[in-house]
Amino acid sequence: MLVAGNWKMHGNRAGIAHLLEVLSTTCRDFDKVDIAVFPPSLFIQQTAEALNQSTIQFGAQNLSPHSEGAYTGEISAAMLKDFQCDWALVGHSERRQYYAETDEIVAEKFAGAQKAGVQPILCIGETQQQREAHQTMEVIGHQLTTVLDVVGIDAFLNGVIAYEPVWAIGTGLTASPEQAQEVHGFIRDQLTKKDADVAQSVRLLYGGSVKADNASGLFAMADIDGALVGGASLKAEQFTKICQQAQR
Ligand code: PGA
Repeated sequence: MLVAGNWKMHGNRAGIAHLLEVLSTTCRDFDKVDIAVFPPSLFIQQTAEALNQSTIQFGAQNLSPHSEGAYTGEISAAMLKDFQCDWALVGHSERRQYYAETDEIVAEKFAGAQKAGVQPILCIGETQQQREAHQTMEVIGHQLTTVLDVVGIDAFLNGVIAYEPVWAIGTGLTASPEQAQEVHGFIRDQLTKKDADVAQSVRLLYGGSVKADNASGLFAMADIDGALVGGASLKAEQFTKICQQAQR
């Protein structure tokens, strides 16, 4: 199990220091779950220092698809590695929606992170409109295939994919465990067609309004191997409870 907290563009030095201090204590004994936090990039060094003695891992919310060069405002995979980032989110729906990230750009970011030794978490998910038009599997299949075509199935050995239905992000609407399982099962099947061993090794996280009171139902599903948590990851008590439910 892996529980990841995406802090998005929230926090300041004092608030983050406090949150990390509390989590380091409250999550100390969860030995059956990997826990990772994703602060805004400016706070990565602070996070690295605060988690120095902790088993909690950390990563970046985004990275450049380029390895270096004249790309004002961007941060490369190698820079993330230099600051000991274990992880990087790629293809979060907010990046796709507001920053016009295409499947192709997402694939480049995935490949770049992996090459630098930073493990990418590939985020995929359909919009409300696409779900209502019964295009969910088609959209998910396309988002997955585009990355697979660029990086190959072997790049997913021990990889992580987060299924995040766009309509469930920050809306308080969670996919039911059955709805999430249906898509997770589909993702696992798609990977199995390429390589069954790799498919079994991949961790599939669910994301979209995961809270302390709906996590256990989601975690009980066969193909849900953890969660990508947004809003609830900013509250130490909520996030701790979610991590606790992932202990199995
Ligand atoms: P949410 O965000 O938990 O606030 O819905 C999830 C995400 O965007 O990763």
